[in-house]
Amino acid sequence: MNNLVGWELEWNRYPLLFDIMAPRSELHHLKMLERDIYLHYMEDSLRKLPARARVLDAGSGVGRFGIELGRRGHEVSLVDLSATSLKTALRHIVGRGIQGASLYLSSIEDMGTIFRNDTFDATVAIEAVCYVTDPLKALKELIRVTKKGGPVFVSVEGLYGAVLADEQIPEEKVATVLKTGVLQVEHSVFTRYYTERGFRDLLESSGAEVITVQGTHYVPEGPFDGLMDIHALKSADYRKRVMALDVRYNASRVFHPLARSWLGIVRK
Ligand SMILES: C[S@@+](CC[C@H](N)C(=O)[O-])C[C@H]1O[C@@H](n2cnc3c(N)ncnc32)[C@H](O)[C@@H]1O
Repeated sequence: MNNLVGWELEWNRYPLLFDIMAPRSELHHLKMLERDIYLHYMEDSLRKLPARARVLDAGSGVGRFGIELGRRGHEVSLVDLSATSLKTALRHIVGRGIQGASLYLSSIEDMGTIFRNDTFDATVAIEAVCYVTDPLKALKELIRVTKKGGPVFVSVEGLYGAVLADEQIPEEKVATVLKTGVLQVEHSVFTRYYTERGFRDLLESSGAEVITVQGTHYVPEGPFDGLMDIHALKSADYRKRVMALDVRYNASRVFHPLARSWLGIVRK
């Protein structure tokens, strides 16, 4: 609830900034780069989906992933608790002529009234589970609605990367965040941060098979964000170079634990 209040206030204050699918938004190129870094690790599993797969984008926000998967010809369902985000997503879906998309105002912790078991060929929940009240309940829900054998893509905030890079974590809260993994600021923020081990434990306790956990966002919005020229992100070539650097940090034993975000892929 803290996040919803906080995000709605921010939406009201900066409507264009948060409309990240709009090329005019100052965050557009950054958020598309970050999407492409996630996709880099997701593509192997996405390639195996049938041509017109049913895909759930859970905690979709304005549809950063749902819209891309819809553009690829999949039949996407978006679920979010923010009506403002869903309305914005709908505008972009219609604007891009994406067919067969559906949108639901619901918590991802309980989708019992909207989806039966084994509905989706794949489920995507990027940067959502770390903001819900009960992450394991949400994860089990994502797995419940996914068909047997289907991939579930989940990302959460990384503890050390966030402590190094997240300006939302006030100095006086750093020790508590490192100890508890939780940041709570009334009417503004509730975030659970994960070490890789903690995230693997969460994924394993869902009962699904863990395929991989990758670290992402070392450069954009991560501990090495300062290396990046935000104004150069308009160039596709520059974005490719930043992505290559991000992938290199993930592969490095020294830097790997400093991920700002962890992406897990599990199979039902
Ligand atoms: C950081 S945004 C990520 C949005 C999107 N997945 C993306 O990667 O661009 C987190 C989203 O999760 C949504 N959210 C938070 N808690 C939720 C819940 N319990 N059920 C559904 N959506 C939730 C928020 O409204 C917000 O749109």
